[in-house]
Amino acid sequence: MSLRNKLVTVFGGSGFVGRYIVQKLAQQGARVRVAIRRPDEGLFLKPMGGVGQIDIVQANIRMPMSVQQAVKGADIVINCVGILYQSGAQKFAAVQARGAEVIALCAKEAGVQQMLHISAIGADAESGSAYARSKAQGEAGIRRHMPQAIILRPSIVFGPEDDFFNRFAALASIAPALPLVDGGHTKMQPVYVGDVAEAAVRALSNSAAAGQTFELGGPKVYSFRELLELTLAAIHKKRLLLPVPGALLKPAAFFMELQPLFAPPITRDQIELLKADNVVAANAKGLKDLGIDLPVPVEGTIDTYLFRFRRGGGKFEPRFS
Ligand SMILES: NC(=O)c1ccc[n+]([C@@H]2O[C@H](COP(=O)([O-])OP(=O)(O)OC[C@H]3O[C@@H](n4cnc5c(N)ncnc54)[C@H](OP(=O)(O)O)[C@@H]3O)[C@@H](O)[C@H]2O)c1
Repeated sequence: MSLRNKLVTVFGGSGFVGRYIVQKLAQQGARVRVAIRRPDEGLFLKPMGGVGQIDIVQANIRMPMSVQQAVKGADIVINCVGILYQSGAQKFAAVQARGAEVIALCAKEAGVQQMLHISAIGADAESGSAYARSKAQGEAGIRRHMPQAIILRPSIVFGPEDDFFNRFAALASIAPALPLVDGGHTKMQPVYVGDVAEAAVRALSNSAAAGQTFELGGPKVYSFRELLELTLAAIHKKRLLLPVPGALLKPAAFFMELQPLFAPPITRDQIELLKADNVVAANAKGLKDLGIDLPVPVEGTIDTYLFRFRRGGGKFEPRFS
């Protein structure tokens, strides 16, 4: 299906992944309705499209009536809403499980033709992590109402606004050591945010993708330790990488979750999540099946945005050798 002139509602379109999808949709000529909790915080999206091409409306996916309003008249609905930790009413069950299902139900009732949902590798109803369980419940809820929906499950997503490399680079700027949870052996396959967005628009344009689940990973698998080493190299810093058993880190994580002043750097649930590798399954459909043959690598890309963590916020100078 061509996306030109289609009305696409994007829940969570102001987030890290959502903003790249909004931009790609606008480039394809779609009319984009971004549905977020605080519309004023999404105004930066408007210049990504022509005059009037991108509209921002208020919606909270925990409030079904606001979801009903946001999907009215839409041809396609995309869900990019997710949370990394629970706080107040923003619980995994309410946002990632029930919220995702509410979007699918409202979309079906409104006669929306297609839905695309961003889940995550590791979505598993039996997981020890509440995040992973809620992702699986969200997928199941969507399939109940919109069996033709397309589900994208990325590994860690990287790019200028990411929450992985930026977080550890920031931590390395103030801490003498970085923790290697359970030795740092967990495998990850970081995927570039632009590739995730490209995968989304290609999947929506391809009728064969309907009802399919795609796992999205970048060109290389790394251990958690290797990713921290790449981060330190990008910011020109040397730090001790300290293996810490997850069980020992959990009490500290508990206290970080209790304090209300800042987002917890790590939670007990994330420690649980790190027990399982986060890589594309051997039999999964992926970027290649969507015609993305050369995904963007971590090396050389993270330097372009982590350079601000170098001593003195040094300028990025590409090295050609
Ligand atoms: N980033 C990654 O490495 C990664 C990896 C795998 C999977 N994913 C998945 O990809 C999706 C997007 O992640 P992201 O990194 O872009 O997250 P993000 O930057 O935190 O963006 C999340 C978006 O959801 C919105 N949101 C949160 N709660 C909401 C609610 N109750 N109602 C409506 N909107 C709400 C946020 O807006 P406000 O909070 O401002 O309202 C924001 O626009 C998520 O499902 C995530 O689980 C991400």
